[in-house]
Parts: sequence; structure tokens; C-alpha cells
Amino acid sequence: KLRNKINRSSMEDKPVSNSFRRQSHDNLEDESKIQDLSLGHFIKRFSTKPKSRRKSSESNTFIGSPAVKSRIKKLAPQVPKPTEKCKLILPDGTEVELNILEGKAGPKMIDIRDLYQKTGMFTFDPGYTATGSCVSSITYIDGDKGELLYRGYKIQDLADHCTFIETCFLLLYGELPNKTQLEDFEEKVKDEMLVHEKLKDFFKGFNPKAHPMAIMCSVIGALSSFVHEGLDIDDPKEREKVAIQLIAKFPTLAAFSFRTSIGLPIVYPRRDLSYIENFLHMMFSDPMNTSASIDPVMTEALDKILLLHADHEQNASTSTVRIAGSSRANPFACISAGIASLWGPAHGGANQACVEMLEQIGEFENIPKFIAKAKDKNDPFRIMGFGHRVYKNYDPRASVMAKMCKKVVENMDTQNQKMLSIALELERIALEDEYFVTRKLYPNVDFYSGIVLQELGIPIDMFTVIFALARTIGWVCQWKEMMSEENVKIGRPRQLYVGDTEREFIKIEDRD
Ligand code: CMC
Repeated sequence: KLRNKINRSSMEDKPVSNSFRRQSHDNLEDESKIQDLSLGHFIKRFSTKPKSRRKSSESNTFIGSPAVKSRIKKLAPQVPKPTEKCKLILPDGTEVELNILEGKAGPKMIDIRDLYQKTGMFTFDPGYTATGSCVSSITYIDGDKGELLYRGYKIQDLADHCTFIETCFLLLYGELPNKTQLEDFEEKVKDEMLVHEKLKDFFKGFNPKAHPMAIMCSVIGALSSFVHEGLDIDDPKEREKVAIQLIAKFPTLAAFSFRTSIGLPIVYPRRDLSYIENFLHMMFSDPMNTSASIDPVMTEALDKILLLHADHEQNASTSTVRIAGSSRANPFACISAGIASLWGPAHGGANQACVEMLEQIGEFENIPKFIAKAKDKNDPFRIMGFGHRVYKNYDPRASVMAKMCKKVVENMDTQNQKMLSIALELERIALEDEYFVTRKLYPNVDFYSGIVLQELGIPIDMFTVIFALARTIGWVCQWKEMMSEENVKIGRPRQLYVGDTEREFIKIEDRD
């Protein structure tokens, strides 16, 4: 108790603004053991890695290096200066001038930050269909052209020539890595892949039938219980570390959630395996056959799937992460909020929903019936994996995914082959149907990703977890970008109130 007291009072002296503060801690003796999530650094001393590689990863190439410091500056985007003005005429004839902002690409934006001061009015835009919520330099989508760029690079080029982990580096640091940088980055990620053993206890508490996304919301959020006090979210180096920890620990925890849900023993990551190989190893290793090797086709396909899903500008889950982070919340908790948002079938859950829909369609002759259901305004059914808020053309990720799906199909079992042919026929019919044509509804990435994942042997309720694994880099980069701004404004939309206005209170005995 005394130690508690002393510790608490010494904490009072620390500056509060820059770091989180523990609110209560009952087990201070364990504190030093659980504070740091970087377990890889500790055990690496005993590893038998060749000396040369060990040296390069320990040389602190990124965190704190001058090269990163200058890049970090470049990566903090600024609101551009207004290029033009426009006039808004109010009902009483008053004219109000508003600035117009122009980014490097995409539609110009009317700057309404001072609209309320100038007019006493707000804007109304449920679902943010025409509202820019931030400046960003990470990802750009041209929905009309069907184009997607990560840091200026076309998604097709990245998918053809890069790996997912290379893409993570690009998203995180703004540039593609050279060979040494990539090797060092991979090592840094591996250093963080282990999770604290105490986290394993969390998995015992879940309902055995729990959806893995439910587990992931919890365990990623639970990482904040290991890294909270002392984490300085205003320090770029610490934000970078959080980013690396998240992308490193996500596959480990995702695989743990799968293994424990089916009663298989947990498998740890291995330093000799790549990021993707490690995930597959932790998911599928057979405890009775440790010499089994990882299928390279599976590794390549999964790598591409992750790369295609890595970031997608201000979608629902990313905006959720940003809004959560705008209150200066713990970043691990913010990513957990993103996972929750991704889970829904209108977003990341569409890959699972699409495979379930294709299974439900079952036969070619049923396709017209399902197309009719999708067009029927009184039926909530929608073609899963079709349509997108931004793409009004073919989703470029879907093109890559469709190609991959056809490549993988050569080795497919008959059931998946049939599912692919139903998907192709459904797409053909829909793309000729006036309903889909006039609404510019095209297949999105999830139309084909589910079939590929199914063929890879990924259990259906892990599909959205794979999406979340991929999107973690996007979420954390967007969070980092927001936190690098000078004045982060808390996300706080307005509302058009249509409820009762003030009315007289009725005591309980007088109510009908
Ligand atoms: N099937 C049938 N009709 C559709 C579909 C669909 N999949 N998607 C949109 N529509 C219709 C919709 O009924 C509406 O018709 P109307 O103008 O007559 O009212 C019109 O197209 C516009 O749709 P919306 O719902 O206003 O568009 P939105 O931008 O709000 O929604 C969406 C986008 C992705 C939620 C929606 O297209 C959808 O529910 N698609 C199916 C789910 C899906 O595949 N989601 C994955 C998105 S891509 C992966 C990701 O980024 O998460």
C-alpha cells in the first residue's frame, strides 16, 4: 500500500499533457514486466541469427534516425492555401464569401470551417457523402476512373512488383524501401511479433463460438492495457513504434484467436519466416508434423490480398480510427474501434457475406431470382461485393483480385470452381442490367476476395480478420498522420434536430 502511495505521488510530478497516465494499478510489482510490448528485443540476445543481420536491425535505421526525422516532417500534410473564393447567397440576400481549397488531385473543396460564424448555419451531409474531414497524403482514389494510388503509386504496379510488407513501409514512410531498408524493416517487425504471455489468458474467457472479429476487437484493444502510461503520442518516434507493434502483433493475435477457437495449441512466430509465412505458420501449423512447409502459392495470394486492402482513404473504419484518435485516446484502443467498424457487412464483412450469398445462390438458374431481389426496393437484399461509395467504375482492386482468383482457380476444388463460375455469371448479368448500369454498381474488392480466401483454406469467419490484418497499416498510418498535425481538432459533427422542443415535465403519477 505504501509503495502504491509513493508511486502514485511520484507520478503526480510527471507532465500530464504529453503522456497517458495510469488511473489505477493494483499490481505495481508486475509493472516493469508488463510495460513493454517489445519482447523480441529481449530474447533476440539469445537467438542464433547471423551476426551481420542482427547488426543491421539493431542499428536503429528508422526510429530516431535523421532520415526518418526529415521524412516525418514531409509526411505531416498541411491544409493548402485557398486558390479561389465562392459566394453563398443566404435567403435574406446576404452574400458570404467562402474559400476554395485545391489538393494535388480530386475535386476542389469549399472550406466551410468558418461557415457557422459567417452564417449561423451548419451543413447537412449524413454519411459524409460530400464532406472532406481531413488533409491526407497517403492514399488517393479516383472513383470515376477506377484508380487507386498509395503514396502516388498505382495499386496495379504495387500488386505486380511489391510485397505487402514493402507496401507497409511505403505507407508508413512515404517512400518505397531499398533492399537494406526493407530487410531492416522486416527485422523490426519481427522483433515485435511476440505478444505478452498474459494476453493468452484473454483467449480463455471468450465463448468458444465467438466470432474472431469479436475477439480481435477485444484483444487489440487490450494491448492498450500494456502500453498506456508513459506512451507519448506526441512523440513521432513513439507513434512509429506503435505502428510497428500493431502490424507485427496483429497476425500473432489473429492466429491465436483462430487456434484457440478450434481448440488447437497456440503457435509462436519464427524469425526465419517472412511476415506472411509467419501468419500462415501460426494459423495452420500441425503440432504433429513440424516439418510441413508453407505453400508458396498460398503465401503469394495472401500477400496480394493484404496489399490490396492495406489502405483506402477515409472509409468508415479509418474515419472511426481518426475520430477515436482525435480525442487523444490510446492508439491501440483506436484501432480496436476501427476493427469494430470494419466488421459490418456493408464494409469489411462483405467478403464473408459475399461467399455466403454465392453459397445461397447455389445454382446458375437461381441468379436471375437474386438479381431481382437486389433490385426490389422492398427487399433488403443486396448483391454483396457490389457497389461502392467512391468507385463509380470497376474497383481496380477487384480487377487484380479477379485475375488472382482465376489463377488460383486452376488448382481449385470443384466446389470453389463452381462458386467462381456463379460469381462470374452474376457479374456478367449485373453489368448488363439497367439497374446496375445506371447506378454505376461494379464489383468491389470483396466480390472475389472471399473465393480466394476460401480456396486458401481460410475459415469463412476469419475473412474479415484478414481484411483487418491488412487494413491495420492503413489505420495506424492515418492515425499517425492526424497526430502529426499541429492542432488536432476533436471530431464532433453537428445534427439537424427534429425531436421535441422544450416541454413541461410530467410527474410519474400524472402520466397516462
Ligand atoms: N446491390 C443492389 N443495389 C445496390 C447495391 C448492391 N450491392 N449497392 C448499392 N445499391 C443501390 C442502392 O439501393 C441505391 O439505389 P437507389 O438509388 O435506387 O436508392 C444506389 O445503389 C446507391 O446506393 P447507396 O446505398 O446509396 O450507396 P452508398 O455509397 O451509401 O453504399 C455500399 C455503398 C458499398 C455500402 C453499397 O454499395 C453496398 O451495400 N454494397 C454491398 C456491400 C459491399 O459490397 N460492401 C463492400 C464495400 S468495398 C470494401 C470496403 O471498402 O469495405
